[in-house]
Amino acid sequence: MADVAVIGLGPMGAALANALMAKGHATAVWNRTPDKARRFIERGAIGAGTVAEAIALAPVVIVCVPTYATTRELIDTPEARKALRGRVLVQLSTGTPVDANELATWAKDVCGSYLDGAIMAFPAEIGGPPTLILVSGQKHAWEASRPLLDAFGGNLKYLGEKPGAASAFDFALLVTGLGHMLGAAHAASICEAEGIDLQDFTSVASTRNRGQHILEAIMGGTYGNPGASIAVWQKGVQSIQRHARQTGMSTQVPDFISSLLAQAVTAGHGGEHIAALFKMLRKDDA
Ligand SMILES: NC(=O)c1ccc[n+]([C@@H]2O[C@H](COP(=O)([O-])OP(=O)(O)OC[C@H]3O[C@@H](n4cnc5c(N)ncnc54)[C@H](OP(=O)(O)O)[C@@H]3O)[C@@H](O)[C@H]2O)c1
Repeated sequence: MADVAVIGLGPMGAALANALMAKGHATAVWNRTPDKARRFIERGAIGAGTVAEAIALAPVVIVCVPTYATTRELIDTPEARKALRGRVLVQLSTGTPVDANELATWAKDVCGSYLDGAIMAFPAEIGGPPTLILVSGQKHAWEASRPLLDAFGGNLKYLGEKPGAASAFDFALLVTGLGHMLGAAHAASICEAEGIDLQDFTSVASTRNRGQHILEAIMGGTYGNPGASIAVWQKGVQSIQRHARQTGMSTQVPDFISSLLAQAVTAGHGGEHIAALFKMLRKDDA
């Protein structure tokens, strides 16, 4: 028997298996292309001929393949379902919160213990002290797998029993980062067009994190009496659009922001805090 089975040895699955082995956990491996598994077996991992065999070898089964659909292809066979009974299934492939909820429902009948995770790191960062891994799902599944998951990084966070929480945090963090990144790309175009050294800009930009006060306003429901209303922001963005046109740079980023702000003004939020965009972006029936 092994302590853990890893199914999928792509760049990420291989990093996970390496981290587990480095911590001395007996690891069983399976990969569609056997060559990748062979490299682990040569270093002491236990090889499995099939997915069901890998599952049967360990109490905790980690899956790391491209999608939830691939995961289901691999584990929703009569042999694998039989082997999963009594096992803890840990899904570390990327998917949506809806995917996670669906797989958790399926796993409830098949194995009883399900944990869903989102890896907020590149393969080379697995095992590092600051590496953030988000997990959610049944508490007993978390408790059973925690000693193994600790191998993946120093910033392992359990987000509670909702299976979709890890994926929801993943997407929320990604979209926050993408907002910053899009803004930063356009900011660099502004600096370039105006002959400003990006080093000078970054020394000022790094002191301003604007995302946090949006979240605080949403949490407090404090949309009234803003320092700058959506209508004021709209005028600011219109100036940025004009500047982009004047200098011949792409207007795509300010156009996108401007269209959201214009929609908010039309919907009657013009006098509110920019955090009120949340009221437009949330689910229709929320
Ligand atoms: N790489 C990253 O930076 C990163 C970061 C965070 C999260 N993730 C997530 O981690 C998961 C794995 O990512 P990855 O980087 O290892 O690369 P990947 O290309 O998503 O996955 C490669 C692995 O999936 C296997 N695979 C693909 N299709 C399959 C199928 N139909 N049946 C069986 N196995 C199949 C591959 O097997 P073969 O070797 O046979 O092709 C290989 O083991 C993904 O969900 C990804 O989003 C990755």
